[in-house]
Amino acid sequence: MLLSIVYYSKTYNTKEMAEIIAKGMRSVEGVEVELFDVEHTDPEKIAQSKAVVFGTPTYYANTCWQIKKWFDESKQYDLAGKLGAVFATAQYAQGGPDIAIQNIIEHMLVKGMLVYSSGSALGQPYIHLGAVALKENFEESKAQFEIFGKRIAQKAVELFA
Ligand SMILES: Cc1cc2nc3c(=O)[nH]c(=O)nc-3n(C[C@H](O)[C@H](O)[C@H](O)COP(=O)(O)O)c2cc1C
Repeated sequence: MLLSIVYYSKTYNTKEMAEIIAKGMRSVEGVEVELFDVEHTDPEKIAQSKAVVFGTPTYYANTCWQIKKWFDESKQYDLAGKLGAVFATAQYAQGGPDIAIQNIIEHMLVKGMLVYSSGSALGQPYIHLGAVALKENFEESKAQFEIFGKRIAQKAVELFA
């Protein structure tokens, strides 16, 4: 089963976390993962993917414009019925990463995706809207991101295998 991660990353924090999520996903049997810089997405691979995860740096307490642009121009991408999840990186907890995530969730809903946070009901780590990595605990967040990826892949297998 193919899963995709689409991200924008200028200084590589978001890219690094995308790679950690991919590692968590690949720990689930039968799962393959493709990573895409948002400026180089492959329509065929996205179409084949059962889940698409989006990652954004937080820019001015919001989603970066590159991801917003992708959704605004995404008519060719039919994401309906696919599992969707979001992650963000930010400098500060109060810098708005949850707002950045929420904006992408709204785009996912418009596209008809099945939005998944990876679930606070599953216990630690509690991930309410999506995974967040801050500057102050970037390295420590990697364990959370790996579990985030694993949970998304497990849910995709549960729903679609
Ligand atoms: C133009 C710009 C605006 C930013 N605005 C915020 C912000 O509002 N809140 C915040 O916490 N971090 C902000 N940051 C910091 C980035 O979100 C953070 O460094 C992020 O991890 C960068 O991701 P990247 O390395 O993948 O490019 C901003 C960075 C840039 C370049």
